[in-house]
Amino acid sequence: MRSALLLAAFGVVVQPTWAGVTGERAERIEPGRRIYEAQCAACHGLRAEGQLAWERPNADGELPAPPHDRSGHTWKHSDAMLYRIVAKGWRDPFNKTQRLTMPAFEQTLTAQEIHDVIEYLKTQWTPKQRAFQREESRRAPVPTTVPALTTERKNR
Ligand code: HEC
Repeated sequence: MRSALLLAAFGVVVQPTWAGVTGERAERIEPGRRIYEAQCAACHGLRAEGQLAWERPNADGELPAPPHDRSGHTWKHSDAMLYRIVAKGWRDPFNKTQRLTMPAFEQTLTAQEIHDVIEYLKTQWTPKQRAFQREESRRAPVPTTVPALTTERKNR
């Protein structure tokens, strides 16, 4: 009851930013936000602002964590690509080290949780960026079958 009230109050405050998030996915945003704060904010910032000087390699020759807000380029990736980055991890090919600076989350988060956190990232973008990303995702949607992902993991 209390959380329902809280959610309702929250919904009123944030509605303008989230306008355009439709249907069943809108209800995934709040779970996505909680995952973001717990798993992603330490590197990407509580307000998705990224790390300082994120566009240049740091002293180790690695690119820092970029912002996920409108100042970054997360919105240029399709749902499929975003899913892959979060599940499998990522590193810039020009990094001087070999490690995945963006950790793989497929052992930490379920497929649903990865979906959710991606839906949350979308709340950080402008309507134009969202429209662009929606178009990209039409060609490369996020994978929908959890069993297929599980199989892929087992076969490696
Ligand atoms: C340990 C720090 C760290 C954590 C935790 C982390 N990331 Fe990252 N992430 C990075 C770094 C560093 C990069 C940049 C990799 C590169 O391009 O070299 C990155 C890149 C990304 C990208 C690609 C962005 C782009 O514009 O290309 C996405 C998407 C992303 N992270 C999502 C997430 C999500 C979602 C979470 C939480 C589930 C998360 N990250 C947690 C460090 C982190």
